[in-house]
Amino acid sequence: MEKRANFGSKIGAILAAAGSAVGLGNIWRFPYETGAHGGAAFILIYLLCILLLGIPVMIAEFSIGRHAKASTGSSYKVLVPGTAWKYLGYWGVLTGFLIFGYYTVVAGWTLEYLFDAGLNGFIGKTPQDFIHDFQAFSENPIRPLIWLFVFMIMTHVIIVKGVQKGIEKFSKIMMPILFILLIVLGFCSISLPNSIEGLKFLFMPDFSKIDGASMLSACGQTFFSLSLGMGCLSTYASYFSRDTKLVKTAFSVGIIDTMVAILAGVIIFPAAISVGIQPDAGPSLIFITLPNVFQQAFSGAPIIAYLFSVMFYVLLALAALTSTISMHEVSTAFIHEQFHFTRGRSASMMTMGSLMVGIIASLSLGVLKNLTIFNMGIFGFLDYLTAKIMLPLGGFFIAIFVGWYWNKQYSYEEITNGGTIMKHFFKVYMFVIKYIAPLGILFVFANGLGFI
Ligand code: PFF
Repeated sequence: MEKRANFGSKIGAILAAAGSAVGLGNIWRFPYETGAHGGAAFILIYLLCILLLGIPVMIAEFSIGRHAKASTGSSYKVLVPGTAWKYLGYWGVLTGFLIFGYYTVVAGWTLEYLFDAGLNGFIGKTPQDFIHDFQAFSENPIRPLIWLFVFMIMTHVIIVKGVQKGIEKFSKIMMPILFILLIVLGFCSISLPNSIEGLKFLFMPDFSKIDGASMLSACGQTFFSLSLGMGCLSTYASYFSRDTKLVKTAFSVGIIDTMVAILAGVIIFPAAISVGIQPDAGPSLIFITLPNVFQQAFSGAPIIAYLFSVMFYVLLALAALTSTISMHEVSTAFIHEQFHFTRGRSASMMTMGSLMVGIIASLSLGVLKNLTIFNMGIFGFLDYLTAKIMLPLGGFFIAIFVGWYWNKQYSYEEITNGGTIMKHFFKVYMFVIKYIAPLGILFVFANGLGFI
């Protein structure tokens, strides 16, 4: 039998999982969801969701993946053969396939902005120019598709190279640099005139803004940002070694991911408000705000502005790449295990299929604008369907599986590494995964979809 690949080190495992979690979800999606749902109060609910739903489901996914030593699409067939649980695995594969399609559209945008930054194209532009440029670009029928294609090929190549050489090495170098750059940019943003208003928006909660829709959004953002609910981290955990500490890894990933999201907020909101861009500008928010930050914060030193903007988009594209790799891996590993095609062939099937989804999602912002489902464009619909419905639903059933169905002894072995660590925590964890997480998700659903 072919030997299963492994992450080479414990820190490699943490960083690869964090690489999956940290991505456009933190820097692009978190700020615009926060902006649309009133700021600080949304963030508080988000933090609660991370702690009560996100981390427990992540630990559950880790234990499923490592125990089964198989990607999510086949792990339930290994763990509980002959049951309908296998559909939970397929659900994850389908979800990942859809997310990969539209996520790569946005990832492609980061390449356009990198290109523009590289040619010094931001210089002398006003906030109005950036708003106009973004709109013209995203509605263009050709350009975004070229970048979409480039991004898919980049992901494809890394996936074909395999786990350790591709995924792990990459995350190890990239994550720390991204973090430092975000901190520096945070300081730049705070130094802009009137930035205090942005900080207030971010940190002073106004609970009147909270309703069912914002709770559903916070819950969806939790699953999206932590890469949960589609078995992505469960697939990664199948490459963890026996002595990787699952609970510690889950908390590390949760903390890193949350810090990056908050930092992104510290960068975006003061800067947006400072130049008169509304926080609820939607998916275009970072693409119209950030070029302004580079321009204004370093207006006296154009060369620094130049270097910073190029570096930022390189890192943003790389952060997106470590996430697209992880989504792609879910389907590739599944096709490889299920149909015994080579990794290369499995990856090609995934890439080509999702390219179709990506093309439609991208065109739906321009020429296919009038095509709507439930009053949403295709792009918006894919985002809503996957992040707010499919991922939380997947997370719900993962919690039910581990809390109610799977033999508790297996959970115990995984979480305590064979009875050597975290024995007391196990009881708390079982309680949360059995009651709190599933009821929490149900409550959010019932509220968000208007049943309560
Ligand atoms: N967590 C990634 C982000 O925040 O950008 C997106 C993502 C990756 C979602 C992997 C789901 C997934 F399985």
